Amino acid sequence: MRKGLWIGGTWQAGEGYRTLRSPYSEEPIAEVAEAGLRETEQAIAAAEAAAPAMAALPAHERTAILTRVADRIERDAEELALQLAREAAKPLRTARGEVARTVQTYRFAAMEASRIHGETIPLDAAPGGEGRFAYTVRKPLGVVGAITPFNFPLNLAAHKVGPAIAAGNTVVLKPASQTPLSALALGPIFADAGLPAGALNIVPGPGSVVGDALVRDPRVKAISFTGSPEVGIALRREAGLKRVTLELGSNSALIVDRSAELTDELIRRCVAGAFSYSGQICISTQRIYVHDDLYEPFVVRFAEEAGRLVVGDPANEATDVSALIHAKEVRRMEEWVSSALSRGATVALGGRALSETVYEPTVLTDVPADEPISCREAFGPIVCIDRFSSLDEAIDRVNDSRYGLQAGLYTNDLNAAMRAADRLEVGGVMINDFPTFRVDNMPYGGVKESGIGREGVRYAVEELTELKLVAIRLKP
Ligand code: SIN
Repeated sequence: MRKGLWIGGTWQAGEGYRTLRSPYSEEPIAEVAEAGLRETEQAIAAAEAAAPAMAALPAHERTAILTRVADRIERDAEELALQLAREAAKPLRTARGEVARTVQTYRFAAMEASRIHGETIPLDAAPGGEGRFAYTVRKPLGVVGAITPFNFPLNLAAHKVGPAIAAGNTVVLKPASQTPLSALALGPIFADAGLPAGALNIVPGPGSVVGDALVRDPRVKAISFTGSPEVGIALRREAGLKRVTLELGSNSALIVDRSAELTDELIRRCVAGAFSYSGQICISTQRIYVHDDLYEPFVVRFAEEAGRLVVGDPANEATDVSALIHAKEVRRMEEWVSSALSRGATVALGGRALSETVYEPTVLTDVPADEPISCREAFGPIVCIDRFSSLDEAIDRVNDSRYGLQAGLYTNDLNAAMRAADRLEVGGVMINDFPTFRVDNMPYGGVKESGIGREGVRYAVEELTELKLVAIRLKP
């Protein structure tokens, strides 16, 4: 398979082509065009040329386009899931889940397109404001640069493209180098749905070329980025007065309080939070703090349940855990685990690479808090479990992090739940669930190095529109 760039509503050759390989088998799966500066410039020019047409498109047409996109993705769901499994090594059942969420995200975007509204402002609340009537409207920004990661190639693109189009913007989308196929599939889908040519452009290519050009170009009015804190922070410095939404990393934590009941469902859920898509999720459960009274049975049952996960080929129906996105990530897991072990950590399960590309589900205990596997974002199938004796101590340990995306707390004590909800320094607190919970209409984003701004379609529409005030002075 040979794939071009999608610019101005047609396929176009790139500066060169790159062989895309399966992260699992390392076999070639496609030849994909790479954009250079010239192609990125063309994509931005196409998006800018399409901006007036998009801004003029009535809300009902934007709703109709996004609805047709959702319908088409629903129709092609199995094919898209297989492609996701191939390019991202996402186990097929998990990939199907992502496609289903993508359909929902575009449906939410379709709904939002029809309810972008302002408010009236009582100007006479201020002396001198008498005799005036004022209202606000939300205007599209123009060209939006969307930079998406490998881990949810369809749904995280939907979280940027959907709200941008809902609000009447145009988009230049730069997908992650390892997962361009899912993004490129959107070109013809949007064109067939009736999107004006040039309103969506898709240009895989190096971040240092395509990403930098998007961030520096004054025609691009907003950047929506999901990826690493290092890149996100550098991007914000370069972006000047552009709108910037950053969804960055985390080392998300879960507290299992003394009053929690260790049901099978709780254990299964915690295991899923730690090992879904091999932990390559920004809100993956990386640290679990369990009350002293429950700690020992929790570790035993958690390790037993995690030991039942099926590791293997992402294309197999039974697979739960497959390859990491690059072999170098397996080597990083080895280094981080061996560093933790050298400082007294113990292995309750796993602890080794199964091949060049697969690291087995691993449970560590007694990990010093300043070890990389605890204090940095693991993005791999490793979870650290530790004990605590008071809820405040557990909350302090969750908060002792440079990140703050989401946190979870299992408890049957309402006061404990309310106290944790108040004190946890994160963008979202999940009571009686893992931190890995997300549905696509909720506000999603973090504090500290986990980012700025919020996704979740309605909130992203706010980020991608300009609030404009109209004040009318009535004749006396
Ligand atoms: C992410 O990794 O930030 C996305 C998580 C999700 O959408 O479930």
